[in-house]
Amino acid sequence: MPDWYSPLRRILFNLDPETAHRIALVAIGTLGRLHPLNQYMADAWRGTLPAHPVEAMGLHFPNPLGLAAGLDKDATAVDGLANLGFGFLELGTVTPLPQYGNPRPRMFRLTGAQALINRMGFNSAGLNRFLANLDRHCQQVRIGINIGKNAATPNAQAQRDYITGLRAVYTVADYVTVNISSPNTPGLRDLQERQALNQLLFSLKDEQAKLADCHGRYTPIAIKIAPDLDEEAIAQIADALLVHGVDGVVATNTTTTRPLDPIRYPESSQAGGLSGAPLAVLSQQVIAKLKSYIGNDLPIIGVGGITDAASAQAMLLAGASLIQVYTGLIYQGPRLIREILETLEQ
Ligand code: FNR
Repeated sequence: MPDWYSPLRRILFNLDPETAHRIALVAIGTLGRLHPLNQYMADAWRGTLPAHPVEAMGLHFPNPLGLAAGLDKDATAVDGLANLGFGFLELGTVTPLPQYGNPRPRMFRLTGAQALINRMGFNSAGLNRFLANLDRHCQQVRIGINIGKNAATPNAQAQRDYITGLRAVYTVADYVTVNISSPNTPGLRDLQERQALNQLLFSLKDEQAKLADCHGRYTPIAIKIAPDLDEEAIAQIADALLVHGVDGVVATNTTTTRPLDPIRYPESSQAGGLSGAPLAVLSQQVIAKLKSYIGNDLPIIGVGGITDAASAQAMLLAGASLIQVYTGLIYQGPRLIREILETLEQ
């Protein structure tokens, strides 16, 4: 395969990161709607990737490598992204009502570190637009839908937003991720604390049971957690997940810490969540601790700092059953998917 991503990356990296992101996503979405190209991608790209089937959350995945949430927040490029060969796509975070998010600029590259800082703040077209967009996709691909709460909704009423999200996406998602770990919505991470988490999980599991009964299908629920948790907090979260019978856990979101040299990377002083290579060890540590508490009782979807085959393998070794990438894809392009899948052990 020719390396067509390097010249493209040079052009995209000359633009401000959010503009580059938008252009790339529109291009991927448009290409995904071109039938002859879909056929080519199916034959020449997807068809030549090794299969690594995995069972998790009661679902069959063709391979364990997924796209992380936040890249396609409004489900506008599902077919194009599916063409890249992912085993699943996590779309969203989608909020009940449309919201702009934080003012721009809100995404920053730390190029030498293969990292990004973002403080997007759940920019979302809202559930209605999201579902209308999703309805247009044709490719067979496993879809996780990541739901959040609107910034204007106080934490005391956060449950209402998550229940609204769960109901809206229940029949179109293969699994639903409940995002309580973005650092860019004030107070959101407080929902990871014992009492708030127990209340939220209780209502979500109760609603899931009603929806399963009503629709005759069971859609698993995963909870997405932060990397910035101490051992006690991880133990508490693990306990709550087990007690409530949650189906999976996505670990981790971006970090508010800065394991980087501030002189070499002056952008690291930007507020927001750090993703990419510097996050890898932190995410792996959280996953390993989580795994020591939950064992094989529920699967971990490992995400954070996967930029090559070695970091993907380390995430699986730490205890993840499925893995996801975001920032690594921005820096490496789609060849990262091939590199990871070709080096996974059978
Ligand atoms: C994210 N991430 C994210 N996560 C989430 O649950 N909902 C979201 O809306 C977003 N939005 C978002 C935007 C941007 C610009 C980035 C870089 C990241 C977090 C993402 O899913 C993932 O957890 C982290 O980025 C860590 O993985 P990587 O990027 O190191 O592979």
